[in-house]
Amino acid sequence: MTERQSWGSKLGLILATAGNAVGLGNILRFPSKAALYGGGAFMVPYFISLFLMGLPLMIIEWVIGRYAGRYGHGSMTGILGLFFNHASWARILGSIGVAIPLLICMYYIYIESWTLGFAFLSIFGEIPTPVVTSNANEAIKPYLNFFREYTNPSATAYFFLLLTIAINWFILQKGVKKGIEITAKIGMPAIILFGFILGLICLSAGNWKGFEGLKFIYNLNFSRISDPVVWIEASGQIFFTLSLGMGAIAVYASYTSPREDVIKAGMWTAGINEFVEIVIGASIAIPAAFAMFSALAIPELAKEGTFRLGFITMPAIFMSFPLGEYISFIWFLLLFFAALTSSLALIQPLIALFEDEMKWEHSKAVNISIILITLGAHLSAFVPNFIDELDFWAGCFLLLIFGLIEIFVFIWIFGINNFYNELTKNTNLKLPKFFVYIMGILSPLFIVFIIYYWVIKDFENIFFIDEPNKLIARVFIILFILFLSVIAVKSKKIIMRDIRYLKLMKNLDR
Ligand code: TRP
Repeated sequence: MTERQSWGSKLGLILATAGNAVGLGNILRFPSKAALYGGGAFMVPYFISLFLMGLPLMIIEWVIGRYAGRYGHGSMTGILGLFFNHASWARILGSIGVAIPLLICMYYIYIESWTLGFAFLSIFGEIPTPVVTSNANEAIKPYLNFFREYTNPSATAYFFLLLTIAINWFILQKGVKKGIEITAKIGMPAIILFGFILGLICLSAGNWKGFEGLKFIYNLNFSRISDPVVWIEASGQIFFTLSLGMGAIAVYASYTSPREDVIKAGMWTAGINEFVEIVIGASIAIPAAFAMFSALAIPELAKEGTFRLGFITMPAIFMSFPLGEYISFIWFLLLFFAALTSSLALIQPLIALFEDEMKWEHSKAVNISIILITLGAHLSAFVPNFIDELDFWAGCFLLLIFGLIEIFVFIWIFGINNFYNELTKNTNLKLPKFFVYIMGILSPLFIVFIIYYWVIKDFENIFFIDEPNKLIARVFIILFILFLSVIAVKSKKIIMRDIRYLKLMKNLDR
């Protein structure tokens, strides 16, 4: 058996996991959702979800990832298997956990490629020039048309998609330490630097009118506290932004040393992510939009789709500033770095599945993973609405379900005492056991509550299929999970053979 991969340094590990969590979610998805669901009214469920669900699950994934890494498993297929003596059903259940990040990656990487494409178009002056008008719809029209043409998809879009996939492939080939870790060491400081520059520019725009935008987000209020849709969106955002509910944090944690302090690492990951979300992410898109347009236009601007705000509204605003091309360039470069460190993390669970469960060599595991992603990315590029459908099912619904499964297995099946012992190993922060009960009881209740209200209230809208493309997306999701399930069951033989072999060796030693 070959040695499993591992991180090079503590700093590298923290930056890599922060890079995993910090992504388009922080800088695009967060302001779009906040704008759509009422700013301060959205933030109340947001913070409650962060504390009741986000932080506990972050710690749980760290604990479990480190634990499973010791036994040579990093993917959810192997991790869930580990808890049930590699029973087929457990490995199949784990496949859902591997499918989620991959499904997300299939559209995420396409959006990532837009950021790279738009960065180049900005710096080469190919972005439309602004029209002088105070009417938001008029102002964004040229940019809307430009975006629609680009994502039609144009040949340029296709070129940058292939380039983005190639960049991801190149980094992943180099492995965890020499690829992902080094990228994060360059990417994370760049993200924070660019974020600061843009935040300052946007807040100060229009004689500091940008602050109105920040006030809109932080004017915490309870006006939509009883609206289940706001709850599901806020808690979905917490899962999405922290990369939770799919084993993506656990797979990174599985490459740490057994002596790593997981509580600290988890807190660093969540802390850096929240900083980049509610400080930097909150200071760019919405303040800029407030500085340029009236407050009434804000939800309207976010409507064009979760991620699209960044490609239509933002260039429209930046291009009207002095040196607009450069600001726009920095904006798209920021998005690209954020997206890149995340897309690597979205693919790693599949690589871990191939390496740990199928015992494939690293380069074969990476190549096959990239081929699958390329396939899915084509669907995102060529099937209309595929992106939004995937974002809803994989990026919101399944995350909640799988998060629930994680808590149930890792705390209740593993056992409160075992979990507590793992949690408090190698840490000088002695959390009382009481916290494990909060994690094991309060967090799942909270998730069940949200799913329950949401499904009851919105059942028909959710499951109703009003256009064929939605059906394509759903069938694809199911087929993909089935495919991973087949791998999960097939690889079981390999794992069981290894376990028997290890037992035999132990007996011979005696
Ligand atoms: N957290 C990422 C973001 O904010 C998106 C994401 C969701 C992700 N799940 C993930 C990234 C899993 C890596 C791995 O953009």
